[in-house]
Amino acid sequence: MTRTTPLTTDDLTAGPLVHTSAGSGEWWRDAVIYQVYPRSFADGNGDGIGDLPGVTSKLDHLKQLGVDAVWLSPFYRSPQKDAGYDVADYRDIDPLFGTLADFDEMLAGAHERGLKIIVDLVPNHSSDQHVWFQEALAAAPGSAARDRYMFRDGRGPEGDEPPNNWQSIFGGPAWTRLAPREDDTPLGPQWYLHLFDTSQPDLNWENREVHEEFEAVLRFWLDRGVDGFRVDVAHGMVKAAGLPDWEGQVSMVEGTVEEGHDQVSDPGAPEDGSTGAGHNGPMFDQDGVHEIYRAWHRVLEEYPGDRCLVAEAWVEPLSRLARYVRPDEMHQAFNFSFLTAPWDAARLRTVVDVSFNTMDAVGAPTTWVLSNHDVVRHVSRLGLATIGTGPLNGIAATDPQPDPVLGLRRARAATLLMLALPGSAYLYQGEELGLPDHTALPDEVRQDPSFFRTAGAEAGRDGCRVPLPWVGGAPGNGFGSTDATWLPQPDVYADLAADRQYGVEGSTYEMYRTALELRRAEKVGASGLSWVESLADSPDVVAFRVADVVVVGNLGTVPLALPAGAEVLVASGDLDSSADTVAVPTDTTVWLRA
Ligand code: NOJ
Repeated sequence: MTRTTPLTTDDLTAGPLVHTSAGSGEWWRDAVIYQVYPRSFADGNGDGIGDLPGVTSKLDHLKQLGVDAVWLSPFYRSPQKDAGYDVADYRDIDPLFGTLADFDEMLAGAHERGLKIIVDLVPNHSSDQHVWFQEALAAAPGSAARDRYMFRDGRGPEGDEPPNNWQSIFGGPAWTRLAPREDDTPLGPQWYLHLFDTSQPDLNWENREVHEEFEAVLRFWLDRGVDGFRVDVAHGMVKAAGLPDWEGQVSMVEGTVEEGHDQVSDPGAPEDGSTGAGHNGPMFDQDGVHEIYRAWHRVLEEYPGDRCLVAEAWVEPLSRLARYVRPDEMHQAFNFSFLTAPWDAARLRTVVDVSFNTMDAVGAPTTWVLSNHDVVRHVSRLGLATIGTGPLNGIAATDPQPDPVLGLRRARAATLLMLALPGSAYLYQGEELGLPDHTALPDEVRQDPSFFRTAGAEAGRDGCRVPLPWVGGAPGNGFGSTDATWLPQPDVYADLAADRQYGVEGSTYEMYRTALELRRAEKVGASGLSWVESLADSPDVVAFRVADVVVVGNLGTVPLALPAGAEVLVASGDLDSSADTVAVPTDTTVWLRA
């Protein structure tokens, strides 16, 4: 069934601009940034774990794909209790991933190809193996060494109750008590705060030495030539004075508060582009964090080129997020509202409107993202038809399984909508291949601490972290030179391997490549945006004009016939063509010239 009257060119008339052109300024304003999760990207030494030489060997893939920059998740020296987000030495590479020389080679290779490199900075917590924490354990309560972390006496006459009632984001209490020692006070051993795993003690950002150390770490990597930093848990470093008790519940999606309902699917969630998660607790989004970013901004300004800071801050509403990217603070912040929005035309339009309103107000680019290493890949999320987005944290074999065909179809349509939005877009490795999560990983292979700390109640994030397939049917699908992969790949990865998609018309890889080429040629990222007026209230269609391109996403059930003569630039799926009409089927996005 096709919409009986095809659209005319007049129907595609643009309304007023909801976002004006940001112009082309610094590179990060409209960049497409590709996230490499090093342990799962490409394995250079055959041990089953990806590494920096692996990244270097695939730089041509990234160049060909057409991205502008690469963000690498942590590769620092680490016991890998949280896949490297537990850093033991901020100035060295973990032997699993290579050496500083390997890093320099990767950076030089990227720069030769015109690719920028952003590294991950993890300042909220260190590993318990960091020399500072080891010193703190060896030092007396009240010592300078202890003051670099969040040590407190316990409550109760014997100090055997935790200092407050906070829960860890990975499940269980956020406090761990030390073993007894002779110089303990009558309150006994102290406790230390860890918003994440016990192996990730929170640093004390009231301590000057902590500030100085991280500024020095920034300089270490800036001197090596990196183009920016993605700042982990950017909303968490400063805690409310007195660490007050709090009855809320933090969820796995950091900083997001569950208020007794499914924040993603709840139809009653606010229509303001937020996830509907509500307020933040005393461990997040405290005003004090902004002073830190102002100081870091000044450090970056001392360096040539447009170096940037990107906030990973799960705060709400978006107006709070905009505070992180005021002109003298960070440069970008991840905007997770597109990722958490249900597959619904009106909700997506709201997200876009609110995102532009709030970010334009502070002169920062809006960012867009659909997948990363902490959430179920959008192919799998959107394959859970009834919800539209599905759970964020992981799908277990015993959970309802996504429909792979529906998921890929919607994911491709969502991607073409996202890549047409002005601002900066983030891609997660493997999404250009249309990879789903591994949604049936056996418990024995899981490694995410959230799985263990919730006793399996949370499947955890391993499903989206499975090693990439480069050569379909080769050992490990070409992840490395052996068949070793630190997590098993699902069978479907063979057919989705990169080599099976290069040059193949209609493949997900070729769709991404074409869209990125057009995005660059048309300067979409730096363009203004207006809604197509006749469809601005449509319950089924998201349609907008950006640069010289009309973008039409059909989320409804009825195919939408395009104006005669419209030139299709790229489509997320096959179109319905009859003698005199071309129609956009359900769950399909097209970019047009009309
Ligand atoms: C956010 C990171 O993206 C996630 O992977 C990590 O577990 C937490 N922060 C803790 O560092």
